[in-house]
Amino acid sequence: MLDESIQELAAGALQRIAMAGTAEELEAVRVEVLGRKGGALAEISKGMGKLSPDERKRIGAVLNQAKQEIETALDARKATFEAVALAAKLDSEWLDLTVPAPGPRRGHLHPITRIQRELEDLFVSLGFAVLDGPEVEDEYHNFDALNIPADHPARDMQDTFWLSGGNLLRTHTSPVQVRGMERLKLPLRMIAPGRVFRNESVDASHEHTFYQLEGMMIDRNVSVAHLLYFMKTLLTAVFQRDVTVRLRPGYFPFVEPGFELDIQCLICGGPGCPVCKQSGWVELLPCGLVNPHVLRQSGIDPDEFGGFAFGLGLTRLVMMRYSIDDIRQLQGGDLRFLEQF
Ligand code: PHE
Repeated sequence: MLDESIQELAAGALQRIAMAGTAEELEAVRVEVLGRKGGALAEISKGMGKLSPDERKRIGAVLNQAKQEIETALDARKATFEAVALAAKLDSEWLDLTVPAPGPRRGHLHPITRIQRELEDLFVSLGFAVLDGPEVEDEYHNFDALNIPADHPARDMQDTFWLSGGNLLRTHTSPVQVRGMERLKLPLRMIAPGRVFRNESVDASHEHTFYQLEGMMIDRNVSVAHLLYFMKTLLTAVFQRDVTVRLRPGYFPFVEPGFELDIQCLICGGPGCPVCKQSGWVELLPCGLVNPHVLRQSGIDPDEFGGFAFGLGLTRLVMMRYSIDDIRQLQGGDLRFLEQF
């Protein structure tokens, strides 16, 4: 009788183990059948005290065998669950370690740097020296030596970031003209590309930080014809096509006469857009003949020497060339923008 019910119990347990779908179901079977407290087999062995010694020995053996069979079945089933779980994990977290690595990503030059280097090459081929100057300037080189004394209204033309001690962030590359006149022998031809700063509110066509390329040539008998020749050579090289230009009188204390060279907007081609402020023209290049006061201030005799100077807006030039309609993108540091160039 007793061994029959043990065998029935074992058969039932083995069947449930075989059909269990989860580790939790297996655990439930284990507790119900093998559990030390209240497990079905434990209950049976409790009653064994009433049996005769012979019977007890025989039933004990049956009980042990049933217990072992169930334990073995539980372990085997548990192992298959773990194998399935591991296989699923390996499947979802699969890595192919034989795929070749992409390698370091190559960067490239910023469009402003690129145009700057192109123009440096061009001007070097025309006999110009490339000069560098400090971004933190003194008042003398940024203003006074350029015929803009402290009480001159032209100081207000350029909103200045003043620093302590009377220094400032240069508002233009023109101070490098002065440094060039101080350093180079005559006749001289020089350009000076660099970053300049203006304390103004930022919008699609104004930035507080932008790039200019200054140019200056001093020699005997320099005229507006020389200026125009170099400006035309410059613009043809930059745009690789004919651009429409116009010359307007422009006022800068360090040139006389002074001009504004405009080009027809390359973004809209004339009808007007935000970059050209709806005018169809873009102010590209202020220029002029060097004011005799400026020459004299740097120790050059204006009766013997004359010159021209220009200040090219490199940032604006890049915008024209690549049809960029918002100046803020150039220094914004957004790689998605820069990677297009
Ligand atoms: N330095 C002037 C500016 O930034 C531009 C300029 C340069 C004008 C050279 C004339 C000659 O506004």
